[in-house]
Amino acid sequence: MQLTDRRQWLKSAGLLSGGLPFLLTGQSWPSTGIFPWESSDNIGYQTGDLIKLSSNENPYGPSDSVKKAMSDAFGKVCRYPGRDIDALTEKIAFREGVSADHILITIGSTEGLKLAVLAYLRNGGELVAAQPTFEAMLTYAEACGAYVHRVPVDKHMVTDLQAMSRRCNADTKLVFVCNPNNPTGTILPEDEMTHFCTEMAKRTMVFCDEVYIDYINRKNYPSMISLVKNDMNVIVSRTFSKVYGLAGLRIGYLIARPEIISRIKKLQIDRPNILALVAAEAAMKDDDFYSFSLNKNNVSKKMICETLDHLGIKYTDSHANFVFFKSGIHINTLSKKMEEKSVQIGRAFAPFTDWCRLSTGRTEDMPVVQEALKSIFT
Ligand SMILES: Cc1ncc(COP(=O)(O)O)c(C=O)c1O
Repeated sequence: MQLTDRRQWLKSAGLLSGGLPFLLTGQSWPSTGIFPWESSDNIGYQTGDLIKLSSNENPYGPSDSVKKAMSDAFGKVCRYPGRDIDALTEKIAFREGVSADHILITIGSTEGLKLAVLAYLRNGGELVAAQPTFEAMLTYAEACGAYVHRVPVDKHMVTDLQAMSRRCNADTKLVFVCNPNNPTGTILPEDEMTHFCTEMAKRTMVFCDEVYIDYINRKNYPSMISLVKNDMNVIVSRTFSKVYGLAGLRIGYLIARPEIISRIKKLQIDRPNILALVAAEAAMKDDDFYSFSLNKNNVSKKMICETLDHLGIKYTDSHANFVFFKSGIHINTLSKKMEEKSVQIGRAFAPFTDWCRLSTGRTEDMPVVQEALKSIFT
């Protein structure tokens, strides 16, 4: 590497501006202005760069308390995680009102999806899921040779539980319900969701993906953790990637009754990293950042929806950190047009290739997004 290239690299990593001495001496990082993730790269936005609204992240994260906890723990990275996993497991269990043997901390909730497939579908069988939905579990299942039933959402873009129930048979080893669903953002009526999971759990294993549950704008909307507490065949996944703003750290968890957790845990070879564990623990304590993130999400979502209303564009009733709207333009064409306006949007979700998923992003960036939509659709 040329010296100038190296200087450029260090500069872009935020190290020349003050980070490097801290890395070398092991001192704590100062709280502002130096650490790479405090730079504008952290929020995925710079002049001349794209506003990244493609992956449903929380661009405000991580919170200051998380940054501090991570910098304080930096010296621990020479160790494999062990006790930190146990400590976080206990804390999550306490928060969820279960014992620690109900929890498995995973490398993002995506690892939980993979491990559940390995536990229940690696010897064949069938998976029932909505279409469209978050594809990771379906992809893993097909890679294991399982058959995947993709059941179309209903005309309101809501997961069609009755149709899913009809697809279940003696070979069904897993049923995947993502609620709120990605990419539609829609939720199921409380009673229907509870009834469906209760009944299906008598026949097979039900996996409830609740990574967006914090964003549900309805009081006392139930988590399916209540069914786990009643010892049912239900696995719930949660994440620190969304409202807690830690997507890049890759940390999430599963909740299920102990026999299920122990069956899945046997297949977990790798473990979440120490900084992610420390960050997750700090994030759980930071109620201010949690509320701040939810408020910002509501404001940004409202701004997007107002613009869509103004343009007469149809969108779903989203209870997540994104909006799914019918652009009427093929997603590949729309992506190019939006990128010309500095906005990066979500990928195609077959068969709704003329719909667009737009993550909410920073409230401060929304005027650019509103202008982009207006200029394309008027
Ligand atoms: C519904 C759903 N489940 C799971 C995930 C994976 O999240 P994680 O970052 O916890 O692996 C995502 C990510 O966008 C998602 O949308």
